[in-house]
Amino acid sequence: MARINDHYLKLAAGYLFPEIGRRVARFQESHPQAKVIRLGIGDVVLPLPESIRAAMHRAIDELGREETFRGYGPEQGYDFLRKAIVEHEFEPRGVELSSDEIFVSDGSKCDSGNIQEIFDVHARIAVPDPVYPVYVDTNVMAGRTGPADSAGRYEGITYLPCTQSNGFKPSPPDESVDLVYLCSPNNPTGAVFSQAELTQWVAYARQHGSILLFDAAYVDYIQDDSLPHSIYEIEGARECAIEFRSFSKSAGFTGVRCGYIVIPKEVCGRNAAGEPVELHRLWARRHTTKFNGASYPVQVGAAAAFSDAGRAEVRERVVYYLENARIIREGLTEAGFNAFAGTNAPYIWLETPNGQKSWEFFDHLLENAHVVGTPGSGFGACGEGYFRLSAFGKRDRIEEAVERIRKL
Ligand code: MLT
Repeated sequence: MARINDHYLKLAAGYLFPEIGRRVARFQESHPQAKVIRLGIGDVVLPLPESIRAAMHRAIDELGREETFRGYGPEQGYDFLRKAIVEHEFEPRGVELSSDEIFVSDGSKCDSGNIQEIFDVHARIAVPDPVYPVYVDTNVMAGRTGPADSAGRYEGITYLPCTQSNGFKPSPPDESVDLVYLCSPNNPTGAVFSQAELTQWVAYARQHGSILLFDAAYVDYIQDDSLPHSIYEIEGARECAIEFRSFSKSAGFTGVRCGYIVIPKEVCGRNAAGEPVELHRLWARRHTTKFNGASYPVQVGAAAAFSDAGRAEVRERVVYYLENARIIREGLTEAGFNAFAGTNAPYIWLETPNGQKSWEFFDHLLENAHVVGTPGSGFGACGEGYFRLSAFGKRDRIEEAVERIRKL
């Protein structure tokens, strides 16, 4: 019998969102009449923007004609999309990037999960707690940790507690680590790093030779223009940071799938002899070996998100979800909940009432209000006693969910 990768056995039985899905399905089976409102996984509900769909249709038609048919595309992404990304996402923020520093992919989940492959198995990692579970789980799978304790904390990981007292934003640790995952706006807390806070992180990384893995999947939700949108707005970040971006939550691509990584040419790790090695080169090797490029119609659609019409349509969607977030936050605050975030992020982070555990509150809400959220403890031990509600929903469902929770 083939020997398995034992590190998988250290993981909690199921990934967070499928686990929630199973519990909801069980509840729905025993309560077929219940009209469940799902504000758990952050999945968009508004249809694809018209300008994006039209562009994708045109791309499909091109593929249907002999003169314009295309087979394999460049693994790193088509130039038209990489250039549009630099021009629209980075140049307006004063960030200079070359388009070949962008690697287009089929989404940020894969990128933020796969990036650890180009680092040593003994690399010490640090993660905010709570945070998007993919960062930790993929490092567990790779064998970079020991077993988990009863709170779900894996041996060998440096956890950076995000609490009310630090505004859910961690400062650099005293110890030296190799890789630091940062997420801003943070999933699940919605906290966004300021310029000063990110400057501290870049200084830490440069001092310790660490690499910052900066996940900006929710950047379009930042309303406060003074907050950094990209890690590269911080001086020196080109030498120590990799950034992840996604079209999912802005252009509605959770089902379409498209994202990208930015790896500046200056950012280096070191080899066994201690010599610097460009991470851009390693990732290019990995990407071209394991990936054949996001599909052409998808990349054409993603590029259309940067057209004038596309930008207006994307903006409309972001504004819609942020209004949902306001309705949830204000409604629950009036009802006596301690509710955070939702101004620069599509998530509301709640303190559970009466000190309930996160999963207890999940069950309570599901059984009594038929509303699904995400238990904070699923994002890390410091998320225990918290709960996340997603603002990705239709307005009437959001209003109804708030009403039902208020009546509890
Ligand atoms: C979430 O709900 O945290 C996200 O939808 C998960 C993801 O983007 O993969």
